[in-house]
Amino acid sequence: PTFIPASQCEVLFSEQEIHARVQALGAEISRDYAGESIVLVGVLKGAAIFLADLARAIAVDNTFDFVAVSSYGKGKTSTGAVKLIKDLDVPIEGKHVIVVEDILDTGLTLSYLRKMMLQHKPASLKIATCLDKPERRLVPIEADYVCFSIPNRFVIGYGMDFAEKYRNVVDIRLFPEEMA
Ligand code: PRP
Ligand code: MN
Ligand code: MG
Repeated sequence: PTFIPASQCEVLFSEQEIHARVQALGAEISRDYAGESIVLVGVLKGAAIFLADLARAIAVDNTFDFVAVSSYGKGKTSTGAVKLIKDLDVPIEGKHVIVVEDILDTGLTLSYLRKMMLQHKPASLKIATCLDKPERRLVPIEADYVCFSIPNRFVIGYGMDFAEKYRNVVDIRLFPEEMA
């Protein structure tokens, strides 16, 4: 793969714009769960950066955990089969759970995880995602909290990678399709 400098990729959302949206989401979640405590469940690896910021933008009591799922050959012929690679460390039965993702794309990852989480009988289950690409959806699933809804463009940064690179880029940038 060709790794062009991130500085050559057009900024879609700046660090400041992301910060403002994450703070707004945190405030909304704090209102919705006033007096409760929350378990945030991040989906490795992409969600790590958003979860770190979101957890600190939520004023109500919260803890976090991570799950990892296998990637299923995106863009190529896909079976849509998702496999759990790393399970929850903490029990979520009776807890208010918010699954945290960097991006909701086809929906296959989150619909698998939602089913899996519901088997643990949480008190409630919601989804927070930094980005939503509604036109890419293959299975019906919607997030409860979304920072930005975007068209079908390849994005990097703020946790999102191209061949594992660019996750540490502070803003969200468009990666040229011809390079991907
Ligand atoms: C990406 C992204 C979501 C998932 C969304 O993860 O972080 O987890 O794909 O796609 P979907 O809605 O089509 O299922 P990826 O598998 O690239 O792993 P990563 O988070 O480690 O980059
Ligand atoms: Mn991911
Ligand atoms: Mg990825």
